[in-house]
Amino acid sequence: MSFYSQDLVEEIRSRSDIVDVISGYIKLQRKGSNYVGVCPFHNDRNPSMSVNQPRQIYRCFSCGAGGDVFKFVMEYENLSFPEAVKVLADRAGIALPQQEYSGEAKRQSDLKAQIMEMNRLAARYYYYTLRQPEGQQGLDYLLGRQLSKETLQKFGLGYADKYSDSLYRYLKGKGYTDQQLKESGLVQVDEKRGMYDKFWNRVIFPIMDIQNRVIGFGGRVMGDGKPKYLNSPETKVFDKSRNLYGLNLARMSRKPNIILCEGYMDVIAMHQAGFHQAVASLGTAFTARQSLVLKRYTNEVLLTYDSDEAGVRAALRALPILKDAGIAAKIINMEPYKDPDEFIKALGAEAFQERMDKAEGSFFFELRMMEREYDFSDPERKTAFFRALSERLLQFEAGVERQTYLEAAAKKYDLAENQLAHMVDQTGRKLGGGPRAPVHAQTGQQKRKKTEDAGLRSQRLLITWMSSDAKTFRSICKYIEPEEFTDPLCRKVAELLQDQWKSGRLNPASLFQYFTEEEEQQKVSAMLYDTIPKLSGKEEEEKALQETILRVKSASIAWQTEHMDPNNVETLQKIVQKRREIEKLHISLD
Ligand code: GTP
Ligand code: MN
Repeated sequence: MSFYSQDLVEEIRSRSDIVDVISGYIKLQRKGSNYVGVCPFHNDRNPSMSVNQPRQIYRCFSCGAGGDVFKFVMEYENLSFPEAVKVLADRAGIALPQQEYSGEAKRQSDLKAQIMEMNRLAARYYYYTLRQPEGQQGLDYLLGRQLSKETLQKFGLGYADKYSDSLYRYLKGKGYTDQQLKESGLVQVDEKRGMYDKFWNRVIFPIMDIQNRVIGFGGRVMGDGKPKYLNSPETKVFDKSRNLYGLNLARMSRKPNIILCEGYMDVIAMHQAGFHQAVASLGTAFTARQSLVLKRYTNEVLLTYDSDEAGVRAALRALPILKDAGIAAKIINMEPYKDPDEFIKALGAEAFQERMDKAEGSFFFELRMMEREYDFSDPERKTAFFRALSERLLQFEAGVERQTYLEAAAKKYDLAENQLAHMVDQTGRKLGGGPRAPVHAQTGQQKRKKTEDAGLRSQRLLITWMSSDAKTFRSICKYIEPEEFTDPLCRKVAELLQDQWKSGRLNPASLFQYFTEEEEQQKVSAMLYDTIPKLSGKEEEEKALQETILRVKSASIAWQTEHMDPNNVETLQKIVQKRREIEKLHISLD
């Protein structure tokens, strides 16, 4: 778990009300006994995240994200558990005992922190090397690309020298093991060479997260070698789908928009020219996750992807992702230059600002790119283009939005509005009436799966019930033991609830710490968050509970029967005895 005592964690939890904390990140609205808001963990504009104050947990009904207050902060800020504890302790004004947060304890207990520390040391090492005689070639290269000394410093640029184990030996000297070094992605192993550095004979771009911590590296050859860039592999701290190069600086830029570029060098050139709001994805395609991160800082993104075919394709892929996140996107035209780096070198910052002011809305950019594929002098191709245009218009929500774009498009192509509207309707009807999915007869296997699922559903429902309040828990635990849950996850939750009960207080939110896998956490949050069917009156409640407990017990007996040794008479007798017991079972909620 962690190196904080359980008591301390609970103390911090009790002073970090989940509604208060989450409200600091996203807007929450009261709805019945819960609070709801737009989930920050997937693309959405509807409020699918629910926060339950009595239980101090949250859950998104759309993407399944869920957990307690620590989990939310970990996810949102991309922190490890101890780091989230620190954030919430600071917020609540609780001082963390010094020895619990010393560098040593951190090193011992948390691989994520260890990798961060190795990255920090590596970044310092590369930075230093660039400024030594052996770094001269790297320095010449970077200065040759017209980067100033200040820029080199601001981005912490560095150099990996010609030997393939310099960093390995340096970090070994700091006491890290081969295993730790492998986990950092800084060092690779192969059978022939043993351990060797991922980066050598390259200039180094450290990649930082929004907390200015080094999470990975990019390394560029100095010249025309291949591959041009190497990037750190994904590690425990380096998630390429949720971080952006330069965002640590861009988020502080106080500009009304963010400029999304393709490459590290573009970001650096832009910053040097005064465009401090430039960021880039990390050598991979722009993701939905990244768009949500950007949405925290801006409502408008300007794209400056390369003007070649690959760049246009990448831009066209990024546009709907940005739109889904509720971000308005525009495209900066850099013709005749390839990318912002070259543009600024050739024409300067002012000319770039002019291009920014003239950036084209995403819809018109898409149309312009579409036009290229159709030869308008051929009537058939022209019709095909308008059909494609209609399909594109259908992607807008019917109503004002679609109408606005329809009018604009009609004007652009010199069409009568009602003519285009008619075409859109026709296309819509054609697309709407697709074939229906065939209905298959159920196979025996599927049926069996269904009863298993029903058993599992009952176990989960019972957990929901048990965790709802102390009184209910007391009634239920008279009738069922944790061992009777056949699903391992349910059994573990039941055991933990029982432990909590025995030590005086049910505390569902604190269960999350016992589950480290995202999948488990999601399942647990689903159980804790499920709603118990609405029941009127005690009698009905007892009846429903009776059915559920019976189902759980029967599943347990069925499991035992299936797995017992058929020659063991004693076990057989026990099972028979249990069967009799459940026949007589009568649940009372007193
Ligand atoms: P310069 O060519 O030095 O101006 O760099 P750039 O940042 O403009 O790079 P470019 O536009 O060619 O590529 C954009 C981004 O894609 C880079 O910043 C890298 O993240 C990534 N990239 C480019 N080439 C490679 C490669 O060979 N391998 C990998 N893994 N990533 C690459
Ligand atoms: Mn470039």
